[in-house]
Amino acid sequence: MKMTAVRDCVAGLLAGAAVVLSGCGAAPDEVEQSAEPPAEVADPPEDVSLDDQPVGLPVENSELFDAVGNLLRPKDHHEWVFVGAPVTPNDMNDGKAAFPEFHNVYINPANFAWYKQTGEFPNGTVILKELVSVGSKSMASGNGYFQGDFVSLEAMVKDTGRFSEEPGGWAFFRFGEAPDYAATGARMKTADCNFCHASAGEDYVFTSTYPVLRAAKKRANKE
Ligand code: HEC
Repeated sequence: MKMTAVRDCVAGLLAGAAVVLSGCGAAPDEVEQSAEPPAEVADPPEDVSLDDQPVGLPVENSELFDAVGNLLRPKDHHEWVFVGAPVTPNDMNDGKAAFPEFHNVYINPANFAWYKQTGEFPNGTVILKELVSVGSKSMASGNGYFQGDFVSLEAMVKDTGRFSEEPGGWAFFRFGEAPDYAATGARMKTADCNFCHASAGEDYVFTSTYPVLRAAKKRANKE
C-alpha cells in the first residue's frame, strides 16, 4: 500500500523565489490527519491506466507515462471530477494576467475517492487544468464573466519516487493548445510551474480555492 506521509514544508524554503498571485499562500485549515488510509482499501492491481483506475485506490502509475516519461493524456478528462474554475481576467489585472483565462480544474476520480477517505493526495494523483477563454460578459442572468472556448490543457502529477528530485514529488506537464491537444504532455521545468505551487500551503495544490476539495477533506478528517 502506498501512502506518502511526507509533510511538504518547502513553502518557507522557496518563499523568496515565489511569485505570489492572489490566492498563493492562503493557508488551508490546519487539521490533524490520519497517516493510514482506511483498512478496507486493498493494494492496487498491476495493470491500471489513467482512465480505468479502480475507485478509491492510489495507483501504480508506470502506465501513466510513455517510454520517455511524457504524461499520457486521458481519453476524456471531462468525465473526471470537476473541482472548480478560478478566473484571473485581464481586466482585473491591468491587462497583464499571467493566466487571463478561466482555469477549469479536474482530478482523476480514483484519486478523488482516495482524497475523500484520507484528506491526502496519493502517489499517482493527476490534476488537470484546462484554460478556457473569457467569453461573453453579459447574459440574461446579469453581467459577469462567462466561459468562452478551450485554450490549453496542463497537468500536475504526484509521484515521490519517479519525481523524487521535484519539490513535493510533483511534476508539471503541458498538452499544448486546443482543439488538438497532444497525445502526451511535455514535462515542464520546475522553475516554470512548481516553484509557485510551493506556496499553495497544502501539498502544492491550491486546495483553498476549491470548495469540492475543502468539503472532501473536512469529511475525511471527521471519519
Ligand atoms: C505565479 C504562480 C503560478 C505559476 C507560475 C503556475 N501556477 Fe498553476 N496555479 C497557481 C494558482 C494560484 C492556482 C490556483 C488558482 C488559479 O488557478 O488561479 C494554480 C492552479 C493550477 C492547477 C490546478 C491545481 C491547483 O494547484 O490549484 C494546475 C494543474 C496548475 N496550476 C498547473 C500549472 C502548470 C502546468 C504551470 C506551469 C506551466 C503552472 N501551474 C504555473 C499558481 C501558479
